[in-house]
Amino acid sequence: MTTESGIAVDGLSLRFGAGSPVLSEVSLHVAEGEFVSLVGPSGCGKTTLLNLCAGLVPHNGTGTVRVGGRAPVEGDPRIGYMLARDSLLPWRTALENAAFGLSVRGVPAAECLQRARAMLAEVGLAGFEEVLPKALSHGMRQRTALARTFAMDSTVLLMDEPFGALDAQTKLQLEDLLLRLCQQHRHTVLFVTHDLAEAVAVSDRVVVMSSKPGRIVADVPITLPRPRSIRELQKDPRFHALYAQLWAHLESGWVRHEG
Ligand SMILES: Nc1ncnc2c1ncn2[C@@H]1O[C@H](COP(=O)(O)OP(=O)(O)O)[C@@H](O)[C@H]1O
Ligand SMILES: [Mg+2]
Repeated sequence: MTTESGIAVDGLSLRFGAGSPVLSEVSLHVAEGEFVSLVGPSGCGKTTLLNLCAGLVPHNGTGTVRVGGRAPVEGDPRIGYMLARDSLLPWRTALENAAFGLSVRGVPAAECLQRARAMLAEVGLAGFEEVLPKALSHGMRQRTALARTFAMDSTVLLMDEPFGALDAQTKLQLEDLLLRLCQQHRHTVLFVTHDLAEAVAVSDRVVVMSSKPGRIVADVPITLPRPRSIRELQKDPRFHALYAQLWAHLESGWVRHEG
């Protein structure tokens, strides 16, 4: 089912050093153009799984991790990674930050700036090109980080709680923005969040993990039609039913762990 630009994790088990297993028999496929969220308790291995998919953690356990049919390596141009903290360079302007990912990939400077400018406009930051991060709100900094991530045009995006540190209102606005960007650019996305409502709103599928060791306990298709708007979803009973379903899966993971 996974094609050239999809993610395929099969039978993955991993421990750090002589510690207890962090991931156990994890199999997860994200098809090309699909948006999959990972939810699960803190410490269940979500970030570790993303790091493995980005080639940032050496895979010395069992099982396989493939992105577009190959083992990922650090700096892989096919893969974009975005974190909760905006990680913008404080001495560079919004435009330079948005262009940064492209420039480290060797794209000519003029083209970097042109693409970054277009992406800044797409995320609602036209007119803020020359502003430094410290003069931007937290939401605007995450918009800049989204511009940088999407400007790179990687086929696979890994996002680790990108809106986790935002206030509730700003988070809803950025979720709407992410829905629009994904609609437009059709990347393959593996998205980590601890917010079940966010997971339902943005995903095609939500994968639920439990901890100690991290393993998959449920895989829930999100059948809500697209295009979606956060405001409309909140009025949709199907949205609330899916939220309740995910919550029940998370709880059953805890019960299994305690029992
Ligand atoms: N480099 C590392 N060395 C040792 N243990 C680690 C390392 N990275 C993560 N862990 C451990 O692996 C487990 C999963 O961590 P993590 O992937 O960050 O979970 P999550 O993102 O779901 O909160 C935790 O118990 C964490 O302490
Ligand atoms: Mg994490």
